[in-house]
Amino acid sequence: MIINPPRIKYPKTYPKDTLSGQKIDGIAVANSVKERVRVAAKVLREEGVTPCLATILVGENPASMTYVSNKQKACTEVGIETKDHKLPESFSQQEMNLLIDLLNKDDTIHGILVQLPLPKQLDEFSTTSRISPIKDVDGLTPYSVGLLSSGRAILKPCTPSGIMELFDFYKIDLSGKNVVIINRSHLVGKPLYHLMLEKNATVTTCHSKTRNLKQHCLAADIIVTAIGDRSRFTLTADMVPDGAIVIDVGTSRENGKIVGDVDYENVIKKAAFATPVLGGVGPMTIAMLLKNTVTAASISKGFVSSR
Ligand code: GUN
Repeated sequence: MIINPPRIKYPKTYPKDTLSGQKIDGIAVANSVKERVRVAAKVLREEGVTPCLATILVGENPASMTYVSNKQKACTEVGIETKDHKLPESFSQQEMNLLIDLLNKDDTIHGILVQLPLPKQLDEFSTTSRISPIKDVDGLTPYSVGLLSSGRAILKPCTPSGIMELFDFYKIDLSGKNVVIINRSHLVGKPLYHLMLEKNATVTTCHSKTRNLKQHCLAADIIVTAIGDRSRFTLTADMVPDGAIVIDVGTSRENGKIVGDVDYENVIKKAAFATPVLGGVGPMTIAMLLKNTVTAASISKGFVSSR
């Protein structure tokens, strides 16, 4: 059972000197999702299905290596097996297609994760499109994308669905809210647009060619930023309206430290809620991957319909 924190009533106007928002605790919410996944994985094992995620990592990008290793550790913690495929930087498209075809056919594998980005000889679209839609735990195949835009997705991209889970947990109602998403990628901005629209938000997607980004932000109730390069972009307090909700998906390194897109220390003094980096959206991405993997294993057993 999930025990949600009580809904906090924020006043319409804030005395400036006492204003301070609530940190959104991604670790706590991720733990509650993981607990549910652990139970689901146990039930599946009792039914003779050991949920299993195949991971594919090409090359030695240090950030990708850490992400994949964290995903594998989290799987083990909740009773999901992993099959690790670490491949050389020179891995060809033909070899990749062959590997995905083998994993698609392997009944002991329920989810396939190809860590992105890929080296330039590998085409991301061709690669992710080749994954069987019922094993598509990243929600990136054209089939999954089509279902998502129709409001019928079962396997949804992990970071956007993790953000939606945070809103749910903190009882943040999106209906009628003005949302600004600063990202238009397949992994974050585009799927999040659909998920938030589904909840009746008015969603604006901003990107590198957007003019007057600050003006867009100042008209928002909710700002989601996912640039991931602090040298190019920082969401500063002067861009955030009083009482806004700020979700930080960006991660980059600054002086050896991992930082987000948001100037959190100052933004949290103005915002109603904000996610920190670390301990905000990151743990949710992993938790939702685990959830998708047990869902995919359930589909294979016929417990969940894939349509
Ligand atoms: N690279 C960064 N985030 C992700 C993700 O959620 N899935 C995959 N496959 N690659 C990523």
